[in-house]
Amino acid sequence: MTSAIPFLDIAAAHQELRNELDAAYARVMRSAWFILGNEVAAFEDEFAAYCTAKYCVGIGNGLDALHLILRALDIGPGDEVLVPSNTFIATWLAVTHAGATPVPIEPIAVTHNIDPALIEAAVTPRTRAIIPVHLYGQPAEMAPIVAAAKYHNLKVIEDAAQAHGATYHGMRTGVLGDAAAFSFYPGKNLGALGDGGAVVTNDSAIAQRVRELSNYGSKQKYVHDHAGYNTRLDELQAAFLRAKLPVLDEWNARRVALADRYMTRLASANLLLPVVTNAAESAWHLFVVRVKERERVMRALTDAGIGVQIHYPIPPGRSAAYAKTNAAAADCALADTLSREVVSLPIGPHLSNEQVDRVCEVLLATLAAS
Ligand SMILES: Cc1ncc(COP(=O)(O)O)c(C=O)c1O
Repeated sequence: MTSAIPFLDIAAAHQELRNELDAAYARVMRSAWFILGNEVAAFEDEFAAYCTAKYCVGIGNGLDALHLILRALDIGPGDEVLVPSNTFIATWLAVTHAGATPVPIEPIAVTHNIDPALIEAAVTPRTRAIIPVHLYGQPAEMAPIVAAAKYHNLKVIEDAAQAHGATYHGMRTGVLGDAAAFSFYPGKNLGALGDGGAVVTNDSAIAQRVRELSNYGSKQKYVHDHAGYNTRLDELQAAFLRAKLPVLDEWNARRVALADRYMTRLASANLLLPVVTNAAESAWHLFVVRVKERERVMRALTDAGIGVQIHYPIPPGRSAAYAKTNAAAADCALADTLSREVVSLPIGPHLSNEQVDRVCEVLLATLAAS
């Protein structure tokens, strides 16, 4: 009996960094300082440097990071924001929470990332920003997105929740637009032991405004300039993230090697493999393939003890949350198709070559039996 292969082995990650994580916890416990202290300040400096950005502001989660960037840019009621039709719903919710309207743009079929060629037709006098998502860890096609944004005077907000350390033309995510939102949800490439997020930017005004909005709209304790929020990265999570940041590149490299292995082993299988463009180096947050007969394929993998997931089974515009909006009526045929065909295979820094080989073996046998 072969042992189960988890979709992502977070326990193994913690085992590898056990001493560092224990020390981080002990430091924060001893300090007895839990909100906005040295750990958060140090992590902000370290993560900004990692992204080659000037500023990083710790936030409570990735959704709030996106939302606060929009608020900092004064984007709100009456404004439209271009978003991918194919993304996790948080990208859309941030726009909705800001009071603006998400306008879906279909993806490029092979990369699943937002299609820059469709921006032009979607821009109206109300359009204020575009949020490219670096989906599955692969940077979106940023050069034409930034060019179109410049031409139409739009802000570019990177949703980098899945793409810590990925690069586009050699530049790290976080500095590819006006500001970027990161998530440190536990399963991310850089994951906390709870919720966490950050805004990264080279724009001091955005950084300052986001910082105030995240902390009750105040620069100075008990002085409130804006009707802000309480959404801050906490000291304990920052300390854990400081323990993990030094290994992020190494762990991403392990993901790259495993993705290459999948690509080689599955090259002639009857499925669509991920495609990474020349300009991009993916952080391989997810390894997503497209298959016909998804149910049968997923059942075979699950029966063999292999953890698989779907990212995502329902496009945001098809969710009940958006049923009463114009987005529900938008033609998002490609997002619909992807939602029916995508399967995410196990990937992560603690998956072995042998485990990848086993996944491929089961997958190839299943596809051959159709
Ligand atoms: C593409 C994308 N955007 C935004 C988010 C929101 O991040 P969080 O879960 O930290 O709020 C996530 C992850 O959950 C995501 O995958």
